[in-house]
Amino acid sequence: MSSSAVPAQAETYNYRVVRQFAVMSIVWGVVGMLVGVIIASQLTWPALNFDVAWLSYGRLRPLHTNAVIFAFGGCALMGTSYYVVQRTCQTRLFAGPLAAFTFWGWQAVILAAAITLPLGFTQGKEYAELEWPIDILITLVWVSYAVVFFGTIMRRKIPHIYVANWFYGAFILAVAILHLVNSAAIPVSALKSYSAYAGVQDAMIQWWYGHNAVGFFLTAGFLGMMYYFIPKQAERPVYSYRLSVVHFWALVFTYMWAGPHHLHYTALPDWVQSIGMVFSLILLAPSWGGMINGVMTLSGAWHRLRTDPILKFLVVSLSFYGMSTFEGPMMSIKTVNALSHYTDWTIGHVHSGALGWVGMVSIGALYYLVPRLYGRTAMYSSRLIEAHFWIATIGIVLYVASMWIAGVMQGLMWRATNVDGTLTYAFAESVKASFPYYVIRLGGGLLFLGGMILMLYNVALTIRAGRSEDAPIPALAAHA
Ligand code: HEM
Ligand code: HEM
Repeated sequence: MSSSAVPAQAETYNYRVVRQFAVMSIVWGVVGMLVGVIIASQLTWPALNFDVAWLSYGRLRPLHTNAVIFAFGGCALMGTSYYVVQRTCQTRLFAGPLAAFTFWGWQAVILAAAITLPLGFTQGKEYAELEWPIDILITLVWVSYAVVFFGTIMRRKIPHIYVANWFYGAFILAVAILHLVNSAAIPVSALKSYSAYAGVQDAMIQWWYGHNAVGFFLTAGFLGMMYYFIPKQAERPVYSYRLSVVHFWALVFTYMWAGPHHLHYTALPDWVQSIGMVFSLILLAPSWGGMINGVMTLSGAWHRLRTDPILKFLVVSLSFYGMSTFEGPMMSIKTVNALSHYTDWTIGHVHSGALGWVGMVSIGALYYLVPRLYGRTAMYSSRLIEAHFWIATIGIVLYVASMWIAGVMQGLMWRATNVDGTLTYAFAESVKASFPYYVIRLGGGLLFLGGMILMLYNVALTIRAGRSEDAPIPALAAHA
């Protein structure tokens, strides 16, 4: 426990580990997005690969995805889940030293990724690139995380388990299963292994993993965040608690079946592809149910949007969640996928989810948390948060819109044929035509990164003016 204004004997929440994850999330956010900006520049001007292997696009791209998803997103998820589970269960985090291990262990995983990926060590499976010794460390950290999280739930003082914990819990359990199954491999040396699966089964397992990484890492966990921080910041109860429970069960059931939409028109049996498509279309309903529940939570508090920049982040994140979960089901329709697959349309979809939904909801939650973790009533500068909001929003719009246009253009150019059946355009012509959009995407990425740097500055000054403070746990059950 750190220094605080509360009486020495009062039991406090364990905020230490929350503080550590919150700060590192912002630091890794800046690093991961900087790498994003570098690879966006390399796609625009290939000379920036400098003919140096460890600086090349192929090595830095997985570094970007790992850093933003698992370092930025992962730290935000672990930090907020530790905060939310303690506050809503009104009990101190279970197994403090194990919680500390999850923090240091996760940072070790991130460092190992930052070293091995540029050196070219990879299992070659997207979002599961890390080699087997790192996979074992991930398993140890994740099992400890589950023990801390569910242990805290077990010793809760409030009988009811608040819906945010259901989403966080599903995220923890599902990611454990996905990681264990997809990373099964036969090691042949200290840093080289081969997948335990072969051929199309390997592809199917990889995309069952890949899609559920989106569904549980990039969605369910962040929905847990949404269900706690939006009602708190809006000072309104969740619009419909019943809908949140239906949302939960429908979402976790449906996501599991949608993976094959990543393998349309491949050697995967046709009927499996169709199942993937149908479940993706069904997924629109629970996704929008959750989005509407979040947005309607603001009923009666809409006026606060004018003055509260943190609420702006949270509400705009829901709009992008709605947008990307409308777009995803459309892209899973086989005839639409025939156009979108391999093009930058996918990249536009990814970043409307990643920057718009995951990025904005995490940023909003972190702005809510930081002052509370450091004994302050508010962030150092509200105007800087407002500036961050506009810079980030404009950045996303530039990124996503340019990729949509480039993607559809590429798809149409590749399929255009002359009357004699020959292709109208050479591939290189589509690359050349994409150039202006790559420049615009880079501009959007730079803006989003600029916003993150502003955030880092604002957070540093808030921490400097405050001090580490752990809130007391109320003696009698009360609202968290
Ligand atoms: C400054 C912000 C960012 C920039 C400039 C950026 C840039 C890029 C670029 C250039 C690519 C490669 C695109 C390609 O293969 O053609 C990429 C891929 C990717 N990025 Fe980002 N990114 C940013 C933020 C993020 C964030 C915050 C996330 C997740 C939370 C994210 C997740 C991904 C994913 C998952 C891919 C792989 C997509 C795929 O394989 O289809 N990015 N990013
Ligand atoms: C109802 C929800 C969603 C559905 C049905 C869906 C569907 C799809 C489809 C059809 C693709 C293209 C597959 C391909 O052609 O290769 C895709 C790619 C992707 N989506 Fe979504 N999406 C949804 C929501 C989201 C959200 C909210 C995010 C991010 C937070 C996201 C992240 C991604 C990523 C990272 C990829 C690229 C995977 C890769 O090829 O590396 N999706 N999605």
